[in-house]
Amino acid sequence: MKKKRSPLLNWVLFLVTLVVVFFLGLLASSVTERRAEQATIWKPEVQIAQFEPRNEVWGKNYPTEYDSYEKLSESDFRSKYNGNAMIDMLEVDPRLVVMWAGYGFSKDYNQGRGHIYAIEDLRNTLRTGGPTGPDDGPMPTTCWTCKGPDVPRVMNEEGVTEYYTGKWARLGSEIVNPIGCADCHNNETMELQITRPALVEAFQRQGKDINQATHQEMRSLVCAQCHVEYYFDKKRPGAEGANYLTFPWDNGYSVEEMEAYYDARNFTDWTHKLSKAPMLKAQHPGYEVYLTGIHAERGVSCADCHMPYMSEGGKKYTDHHIQSPLNNIENSCMVCHKEKTAQLMNDVYDRQDKIIENRDELEKLCVRLHVEAKTAWDLGATEEQMKDILMDIRHAQWRWDYAAASHGGSFHAPVEISRVVATGINIAQEGRIKLARLLVELGYKGEVPYPKIDTKAEAQQYIGLPMEKLIEEKENFKKNLLPEWEKEAKTREAAMPVVWNK
Ligand code: HEC
Ligand code: HEC
Ligand code: HEC
Ligand code: HEC
Repeated sequence: MKKKRSPLLNWVLFLVTLVVVFFLGLLASSVTERRAEQATIWKPEVQIAQFEPRNEVWGKNYPTEYDSYEKLSESDFRSKYNGNAMIDMLEVDPRLVVMWAGYGFSKDYNQGRGHIYAIEDLRNTLRTGGPTGPDDGPMPTTCWTCKGPDVPRVMNEEGVTEYYTGKWARLGSEIVNPIGCADCHNNETMELQITRPALVEAFQRQGKDINQATHQEMRSLVCAQCHVEYYFDKKRPGAEGANYLTFPWDNGYSVEEMEAYYDARNFTDWTHKLSKAPMLKAQHPGYEVYLTGIHAERGVSCADCHMPYMSEGGKKYTDHHIQSPLNNIENSCMVCHKEKTAQLMNDVYDRQDKIIENRDELEKLCVRLHVEAKTAWDLGATEEQMKDILMDIRHAQWRWDYAAASHGGSFHAPVEISRVVATGINIAQEGRIKLARLLVELGYKGEVPYPKIDTKAEAQQYIGLPMEKLIEEKENFKKNLLPEWEKEAKTREAAMPVVWNK
């Protein structure tokens, strides 16, 4: 028989429970308080001044993001066509040398390794030459504009037009920190911000205010400060003599609309050494091409794929190792797609393979156009006879370059890039028909031979580049002027002390 529990014991049990519940409550509330305290007392380690260019200083306050940023120094990932390894593109494809004859890119062109190498790679490329002092060398100051957070700092100190004035070497000791925090973030709020005037001005000319951009748009617009088509305007009213960085977007972003913009201004990047065509060099219309693709259409931003969220010890953060998403498909694509890694990889390669197949054909046609045009000049063709042909060469190669230089374009917008390549092939063929007629008229029989350009060296010799001299000038620059830049920069930065919070 069960004994009835005494009322006293019941009371004791009741009181004990009460006490336990009370203390549990206390514990829970203290935990939440602590958390709140932690959040409010999270004190930044250092004070970050406006225009602070040093990434490692920002890194003291945001170590997780900084650690991921530092992974940018890895350079061992190669996808089928891209990645972060240093690849000599002229060696891979010597036709490029002939297509860029008379322009800096025929001297040297490597696949980009990533943001942390921006300064080092620009100093080392033969395109920036071997300056011996601040007023020497082939390139203007404007070439620094997409290389790092010292740019907004110097623009603030000198003024924008002044910044765009002079030779590249003038700012050699000033622009020393590679692309980083202050290029994209406000120092006080950490909000995304636009630091490059060219993007703000291009929006203004289109009647748009960039400050009205949504948060999701900003996650692409920070990239559009640099990954865009641009040119140096030497005739800008009020800025004569400067190389004023300008985006040719007044008519729109398409290959035809930007071409019409340049044609209306008679703008040329250079005169081709063989064909004498007035050429355009597409820079890297990455943002413009992305806009025409399905992902942009569905509101997916650059950062969604190239800066996915990661998690570490329960903390969610943005991956600042900006790279080919194919090195991190799990965190980027798989947020939205449920397919397997290999399938998604194949989807990308499939689009790239198919576009590059035709892009290569257009490339061969461009080489032929330059060589055939040169033959016509050599046989005494007149300016009048060549005029239309030269415009065809300009327009065909502009389309090839728009497709090739919009890095990632064959994945970002495969349909649009296929269309651009197809129209390029069409224009190139038109030009070759005109050239064939003209060559007959000038008494040339048969086919103009395709040059023997199997290696970079052969191609550079074919267009008459004095490579040994260029390399020697670069070596002298690295021995003499570069160490001076580095010394001056060190002294200047030593006078910008880091202020630690107590
Ligand atoms: C301040 C200018 C600047 C900004 C802002 C910028 N980039 Fe870049 N980016 C560059 C330059 C310059 C390189 C080439 C650097 C090198 O390899 O020397 C580059 C390289 C890259 C590469 C490596 C592959 C390649 O083509 O060289 C990727 C991927 C990339 N950027 C994506 C982005 C994304 C995504 C954003 C926005 C979240 C962004 N970038 C913002 C200037 C910029
Ligand atoms: C090319 C542009 C770019 C550069 C350079 C950059 N960031 Fe960011 N950062 C972003 C974007 C985009 C986000 C996501 C912001 C959002 O969606 O609100 C972000 C987010 C952040 C956040 C918010 C927390 C998080 O992880 O989402 C911090 C903190 C941060 N970045 C720190 C840094 C630091 C430190 C550096 C320099 C070492 C840096 N960033 C360089 C674009 C950049
Ligand atoms: C933030 C979401 C998101 C992310 C991240 C994302 N996608 Fe998509 N993707 C979409 C949407 C939305 C579509 C359009 C399909 C639809 O609406 O049904 C799409 C379409 C596609 C298509 C078919 C369109 C075409 O080009 O023919 C492919 C292929 C694709 N994505 C591959 C990828 C790969 C590879 C990655 C990673 C590098 C990726 N996606 C990252 C949302 C995303
Ligand atoms: C839907 C995902 C997605 C979006 C959105 C996206 N990209 Fe990409 N991007 C890719 C993929 C995939 C590649 C191809 C990578 C490869 O071939 O290794 C790529 C390639 C690139 C490359 C060349 C990378 C290399 O290693 O050389 C650059 C630069 C780049 N993208 C910049 C951008 C910019 C800037 C934006 C926004 C304007 C953007 N991307 C938007 C997925 C995306």
